Amino acid sequence: GSELPALADAHGIGLGVAVAVNPLVHDDDYQNVVTGNYTSVTAENTMKWQYVQPERYEFDWSGPDAVVGFAGRNGLDVRGHTLLWHNQQPAWLSEGSWTEAELLGVMREHMDALMGRYQGRITTWDVINEPLVDGGPGLRENLWYQVLGEDYIAEALRMAHEVDPDARLYINEFGIEGAGDKADALHELVTGLLDRGVPLHGIGFQGHFVHGAVPEDMAEQMRRYSDLGLDVTVSELDVRIPEPAEPEQLEEQAREYQRVVEACLDVPTCVNVTVWGVSDHHSWIPDWFPGYTDALPFDDSYRPKPALGGMVQALERR
Ligand code: G3I
Repeated sequence: GSELPALADAHGIGLGVAVAVNPLVHDDDYQNVVTGNYTSVTAENTMKWQYVQPERYEFDWSGPDAVVGFAGRNGLDVRGHTLLWHNQQPAWLSEGSWTEAELLGVMREHMDALMGRYQGRITTWDVINEPLVDGGPGLRENLWYQVLGEDYIAEALRMAHEVDPDARLYINEFGIEGAGDKADALHELVTGLLDRGVPLHGIGFQGHFVHGAVPEDMAEQMRRYSDLGLDVTVSELDVRIPEPAEPEQLEEQAREYQRVVEACLDVPTCVNVTVWGVSDHHSWIPDWFPGYTDALPFDDSYRPKPALGGMVQALERR
């Protein structure tokens, strides 16, 4: 393990990692990286709709229970990910034809089941994941939008608040980490929701970056939400490098990781930085961005990389 958990505690922030169920249950080295370096976990996949409710009214709690159980035994927090998303929905949901009332009923059943099961143990939920179109600035016309209209976001947040009044409710988005149309669109969406009194407590900045293009103004962007009284989190950090990753690039990447953690420390309401995977072996990057590699702080053999040191430095300096 490293000094990261103690340093994160000292700063009053969480330092998290996305986990997959299988290695979390079966791989000692994987477990040791998680418990030795982080203070929270996010389920990378297993709490998504497709896995939780593969058939209507058929819930599979094996994965979520494993993650929440592991976290409980090891004193780690859990970020809940995610309630409404256009990806990884079961066919019965995405291909069903729904009236408004029916779809709101389905939403409620899912929230009651998932949020209800872990009430008090999962106190932060990504209620809305990626509401804007990939390139921004428009709203994504997902199933929820198609049936319920743009108000689906407010309805989902109100419903989630009813189900668990103590939970911190988030919108989680990517491509908003630096200034731009998409960042502004999210800010406008959020101010509109707050003006109407919609229960929204935080914004997740996913932080899927390309080496050399980590925005310089991330703290500024996050502060815009701090100013509104919202928490912010860097929820899915990784920094991918074109292969082969040279030692020099890994050193530069360490400064990028450092800069992102420093940005969080510079924002009064930034509560957590979470990296999107335990090791490069488990990263989604090579599958989704062929030709890119080495996005995470631990290598294929669970050896710490310079990026881990970058995070330590950020926490030691501030
Ligand atoms: O579970 C099946 C397995 O049975 C099958 O053998 C295997 C063969 O491809 O696929 C497995 O499912 C994969 C799943 O990850 C679990 O490993 C899916 O194909 C794959 O598409 C899925 O990718 C996930 C992706 O979300 C889906 O869009 C990534 O692991 C996960 O890191 C990624 O996470 C998202 C966040 O939730 C939201 N923000 C963006 C982020 C990156 O896309």
